[in-house]
Amino acid sequence: MEAMKMAILMILLLIISEHAKGAIVQFIFGDSLSDVGNNNYLPRSLAKANLPYYGIDFGNGLPNGRYTNGRTVADIIGDKMGLPRPPAFLDPNLTVDMILEKGVNFASGGGGILNETGQWFIQKFCLWKQIELFEGTQQMVSKKIGRQAAMEFFTNSRYVVALGSNDFINNYLMPVYKDSWTYTTTQFIDYLMSTLRQQLIVLHGYGVRQLVFFGLGPMGCIPLERVLGITGGCQTKVNNIAFQFNKAASNLLKDLSLHLPNATYRFGDAYDVVADVIHNPNKYGFENSDSPCCSFGRIRPALTCIPASSLCKDRSKYVFWDEYHPTDAANEIIAEQIIANLGFKPINASGEAPFGAPEPAPSLF
Ligand SMILES: *[C@@H]1O[C@H](CO)[C@@H](O)[C@H](O)[C@H]1NC(C)=O
Ligand SMILES: *[C@@H]1O[C@H](CO)[C@@H](O)[C@H](O)[C@H]1NC(C)=O
Ligand SMILES: *[C@@H]1O[C@H](CO)[C@@H](O)[C@H](O)[C@H]1NC(C)=O
Ligand SMILES: *[C@@H]1O[C@H](CO)[C@@H](O)[C@H](O)[C@H]1NC(C)=O
Repeated sequence: MEAMKMAILMILLLIISEHAKGAIVQFIFGDSLSDVGNNNYLPRSLAKANLPYYGIDFGNGLPNGRYTNGRTVADIIGDKMGLPRPPAFLDPNLTVDMILEKGVNFASGGGGILNETGQWFIQKFCLWKQIELFEGTQQMVSKKIGRQAAMEFFTNSRYVVALGSNDFINNYLMPVYKDSWTYTTTQFIDYLMSTLRQQLIVLHGYGVRQLVFFGLGPMGCIPLERVLGITGGCQTKVNNIAFQFNKAASNLLKDLSLHLPNATYRFGDAYDVVADVIHNPNKYGFENSDSPCCSFGRIRPALTCIPASSLCKDRSKYVFWDEYHPTDAANEIIAEQIIANLGFKPINASGEAPFGAPEPAPSLF
């Protein structure tokens, strides 16, 4: 009898401690480079990856909301860290148990740091909106497991923030938008940084401690920007803007990491390696780095990939999937570079926090 009671007690304790230990999960804020389906559930959004051939090299090959043929950069980094893949916030199957097990992805195609970015997509989540949805998510989790446990869960989670390219491509660089004639480039980047600073401080207030911000790639070399230029080459001016944005964002993240209590906020980018892949594709096993794998005959820009489009012969040989977005093969290189730059270790390797691997000593500059 005593032995039986003891056994039951031990099983109960095991169950409780397994639950308390909890999985380490990620919350992702981003744009189409990280969207895993949110926009497909926004009925009026004009930015969707819901038609073939999006997703052709992912799972069952049907469109899944990712704006590429396969995995996103965040998918690949998470996989390599041993973290679960967070479902889209708007996934109709999302439950609190699923959030505790896998986290949530709030990323939305067309979204930017600024509210006014990407207006012509009509419906999307800008970063402020994504943060609002995160706050709602915290309340749902709190209600289910209690405030204390919820705070612990969110403090131990990992966070990715990956936005900024739409603030240029679908805002500042388009003369139809007010921001393009209101600000100089430096003023506009300052405006983005002061907004991003507020956003990252608000997230810290919600218990976010271990966060990585992904910088921009050489945007002037995406097929769309080449086609809009005169020569068909990379638009150097646009690349310089991305470079300037990255420098400012890197300084911002360093500054916040130094001054926000317990925050490990880091900047990860792969600008240099992507530029090298674009200029020397053969070195990395690519054959094409200037046009989209999925295109509409000679009609450029093709805007989106649709069933009537034609596909390149070998998707692993193309850097770009459509006018804007890299292929799975290119995303793999980007992910590996970010992991190498930040020294991420798989979560199961040493008990070391994968995103938070502390740097020797934070230097001011
Ligand atoms: C750790 O996780 C990675 C990625 O999920 C996996 O490939 C590796 O085998 C795991 N290693 C151990 C020691 O469990
Ligand atoms: C939601 O769950 C149902 C039933 O398990 C499943 O058939 C469906 O594919 C799921 N939907 C998504 C978007 O995961
Ligand atoms: C931006 O949008 C959010 C809601 O998504 C709103 O709460 C906020 O006031 C807006 N900010 C500005 C500066 O318009
Ligand atoms: C920082 O971490 C310490 C140790 O875990 C904790 O006691 C303290 O409350 C934390 N402070 C904030 C602001 O998170």
